[in-house]
Amino acid sequence: MNARQSARRATRGRFNGRPGSQRLRVVVVVAVGCAAVFACMLGASTALRAAQPAVPLAGAGQAVPDQALIARGAYLAKAADCAGCHTAAPTGGRPGGGAPPAPFAGGLGMASPFGTIYTSNITPDPVNGIGRYTYDDFARALRKGIAPGGKRLYPAMPFPSFAKIDDDDMRALYAYFMHGVKPVAQPTPPTRLPFPFSQRWALMLWDWAFVPNGQYVSQPGRDAQWNRGAYLVQSLGHCGACHTPRGPAYEERGYDGDAHLYLTGGTNDHWFAPNLTGDPGSGLGRVPSQDLAAFLRSGHGGGLITFGSMVQVVEDSTQYLNDNDLDAIAAYLKSLPPREPAGLYDSHSRAARQTVQALHTGDVERPGAGVFQSYCARCHQSNGLGVAQKYPRLAGNPAVLAPQTTSLVRLLVEGGASPHTENGPPSRKMPSFADRLSSEEMAQVLTFIRNTWGNSALPVTTRDVTSVRSAIHK
Ligand code: HEC
Ligand code: HEC
Ligand code: HEC
Repeated sequence: MNARQSARRATRGRFNGRPGSQRLRVVVVVAVGCAAVFACMLGASTALRAAQPAVPLAGAGQAVPDQALIARGAYLAKAADCAGCHTAAPTGGRPGGGAPPAPFAGGLGMASPFGTIYTSNITPDPVNGIGRYTYDDFARALRKGIAPGGKRLYPAMPFPSFAKIDDDDMRALYAYFMHGVKPVAQPTPPTRLPFPFSQRWALMLWDWAFVPNGQYVSQPGRDAQWNRGAYLVQSLGHCGACHTPRGPAYEERGYDGDAHLYLTGGTNDHWFAPNLTGDPGSGLGRVPSQDLAAFLRSGHGGGLITFGSMVQVVEDSTQYLNDNDLDAIAAYLKSLPPREPAGLYDSHSRAARQTVQALHTGDVERPGAGVFQSYCARCHQSNGLGVAQKYPRLAGNPAVLAPQTTSLVRLLVEGGASPHTENGPPSRKMPSFADRLSSEEMAQVLTFIRNTWGNSALPVTTRDVTSVRSAIHK
């Protein structure tokens, strides 16, 4: 990861779920709140922050494990994107300012509806990092979200997914963090959430209610490739942290395909991560598995280009996966049956062909058409097919047909840039339209692209646009 990549990652959010209705979970949340208030009354609220136990250095003192194990750990750390979260943004107000942030030294602020949560220093520094962790400490922190001393971690750290990491991979990760990562003696800003969320011990109830138990279990009815893909997606890749909707306690609504809402789309930090099941409208039903693998490798696949918070996932993590692993992920995603359908695409409809004709002759009266021709067509083209390796297609693009339009509005307002990868096409910019289009015009052009070239999805209202704009203060 380089400075440019981390610059755009000033904060990262995984928590802004939409409310659901599961009663047990609501009860649990209320219980968490009540329990927290109770503890406060008892005056027990301060004694809970864990002190670093004075044990000798665990990892560093031992014999250095073999290089192959460390190298495998480095690969797995990419697959899990540990650096993506555990590296500060360059302008994060850290002491020492201008120097690029040290990898794994933590301090990245993650936006949550409860406040900002700072990531920990996970370099092997004995004081500020995890240098004193034993293997068991490490596995417990990753799988159960409990740091040494009993400190419960906020689920901004995706331990509910990491719970499924197998022992071999956990050992390789530990070897890498103890022997392959440079120690950085640098403290991270303390996380100070308002009461009752400041009560880490209360997370015990959350963990009890929501964190799945046990490592990934191979499905005997599926082949090795499918199982590899499922393992990567569900454990290390923690794809559900963004792509699965969250419930009222901000828990993911399932951690594998047995849950109906697993990977059906979620909103975090005002980016909507789309449905990854086989829905042919706004899901992956029409995306062939080679295009999916290419998308994860370079951010470009079948005319789609990644944008929003997925850009960092490709830059920091998936571009480094080997072809076998990318093919396995694609095979697994392609096996997910269609769920939560939304949006339609029919390129052969008569209306589709007529609009393309009309756009060519400048003969379209629909609101948004004029804006599209003046501001968008030079890159995305009148036929909506974009330009290969440069500008994404909008015709039949599942992200354009998504039921939640937060990402589309945010992209129009802020602009964006396709990912910088080692082997993919050069990054291209999508301009910001905040100064050039009114919220009403944005709503019109988005409604237009969602209902042209055979696309069909619900309209975007001016109110939709203004509410996203006020949420992102732009
Ligand atoms: C999505 C962001 C994210 C990813 C990915 C992530 N972490 Fe974390 N991690 C966090 C946050 C946030 C915290 C701090 C949570 C808190 O303060 O309660 C944390 C805390 C930790 C801690 C506890 C340290 C301590 O003692 O305070 C360890 C260990 C850790 N992470 C290791 C890892 C490793 C190893 C990986 C990759 C396998 C990883 N994390 C990936 C966000 C992330
Ligand atoms: C930090 C949040 C985040 C994480 C983690 C994440 N994604 Fe995404 N993903 C997004 C967002 C936002 C989009 C929508 C923008 C786009 O299409 O690139 C997206 C888009 C996608 C798309 C394109 C979908 C479409 O309809 O165009 C695929 C495929 C995808 N992600 C796969 C994955 C996989 C596999 C993982 C886990 C290895 C993953 N994502 C992890 C946020 C995330
Ligand atoms: C200068 C070329 C350019 C112009 C003009 C432009 N775009 Fe884009 N657009 C891009 C690029 C490049 C991306 C990929 C952005 C990214 O990866 O962050 C993109 C992405 C998108 C996406 C997300 C689709 C995807 O798969 O990545 C939508 C939707 C979109 N543009 C709509 C529009 C609309 C609507 C307009 C006009 C108001 C417009 N664009 C004008 C270059 C452009």
